[in-house]
Amino acid sequence: MTFPIEAVRSQFPSLATTDNGQRRIYFDNAAGTQVPQQTIDRIVDFFERFNSNTGVFNPTSVAVDAMYAEAVAAMADFLGTGDPGEVLLGANMTTLTYQLSRSLAHQFAPGDEIIISRMEHEGNVTPWLQMAEDNDLVVKWLEFDRDSWRVEPASLEPLLTERTRLLALNYASNLTGGVNDVKALTTMAQAAGVIVYVDAVQYASHRLIDVTDLGCDFLACSPYKFYGPHLGVVFGKRARLEALHAYKLRCATDDLPLRFSVGTPAFELIAGLLGTLDYFIWLAEKTGETGERRPQFKAAYAAMGAHEDQLSECLLQGLLSVPGLSLQGAPTLQHRVATFSFTHDRYPASTVAQQLSAAGVYCHWGDNYAFEVARALNLDPHEGVLRLGLAHYNTLDEVDQALEMIKATLAA
Ligand SMILES: Cc1ncc(COP(=O)(O)O)c(C=O)c1O
Repeated sequence: MTFPIEAVRSQFPSLATTDNGQRRIYFDNAAGTQVPQQTIDRIVDFFERFNSNTGVFNPTSVAVDAMYAEAVAAMADFLGTGDPGEVLLGANMTTLTYQLSRSLAHQFAPGDEIIISRMEHEGNVTPWLQMAEDNDLVVKWLEFDRDSWRVEPASLEPLLTERTRLLALNYASNLTGGVNDVKALTTMAQAAGVIVYVDAVQYASHRLIDVTDLGCDFLACSPYKFYGPHLGVVFGKRARLEALHAYKLRCATDDLPLRFSVGTPAFELIAGLLGTLDYFIWLAEKTGETGERRPQFKAAYAAMGAHEDQLSECLLQGLLSVPGLSLQGAPTLQHRVATFSFTHDRYPASTVAQQLSAAGVYCHWGDNYAFEVARALNLDPHEGVLRLGLAHYNTLDEVDQALEMIKATLAA
């Protein structure tokens, strides 16, 4: 199938924005994506017709209740669980992870051990470090391999002991783009009785998650990285969530998934999330998939992934041909997502970022909160990397233009 790039782009109003007559090249997607019209429409529709709190008899409130139930059911299909009670919605990944770390600490005793991979974004590091500090737990670091750019199961094995309670593991790095074999690592950790908490924020932008196949206990992602509003989502196995001490108001419900909903949810954004999921269904239908929601999500992600791979191949080859440029990640498409970071032997990342931004190429620089990754790679702590994150609405033409600007900047 030819990817319907023009139809796709027409769904995203912001892609038509121009600065001095020039279209923006959004290559900052690893930090957050643009949203389709369906998302915007749902948010506007909420404010125009459904703005109400839940739980009472007026029709607006009843509609908001139904919308919330629909959102967690659709997200359950998106994540690959059949149980909407396993889908927690919150402000963002970091807030939910802090909340759950505080709850999980009740199950751990002083001297227990936790393992944190060195591939993590700080959102899957600091909450656990602070939990360990508050509860006298021992922290062990799980290194990633510098050739494969991922955590190898052989590195996990020696860290597992009778006292290990938790593994915090990245699905895809927001700096290197490396993708972990979460299923193999989860199986190994769980065989030792360890709870596995996966950060899938970066992965979810590029590949469809399947929590049932992975078998992990918890998995976090952020809709604003996959064409949705600024929200966080955590999948938790029902038995785990029910057994957790919940930090919630005394009179609030004990029923999942609202058991972990602290205060009034951002209903308008949750409505917007449904719009994003509608968009994937629209895209699936373009590919000919008209069946159930889960196969439609699969079809949409397969189409987006194939298009992104084409762009990635072109960007990767172009970057690798630039003299003095060091790619900080795998030089092939295997086991990686379309997030590319590099350093240059003469130009600091901030200088390159400034030049690209001035030329309309949106990008990010610094450690991008992948603080441990940056340290492990001995990156300049003030400069870090120049990061380009592709999305499925980008084009080959944009990749060519960006490469030209990068080459011109680095040749000057
Ligand atoms: C891999 C990864 N994990 C976690 C986060 C934090 O997500 P949130 O902003 O939803 O807290 C990010 C954000 O950039 C990320 O890329």
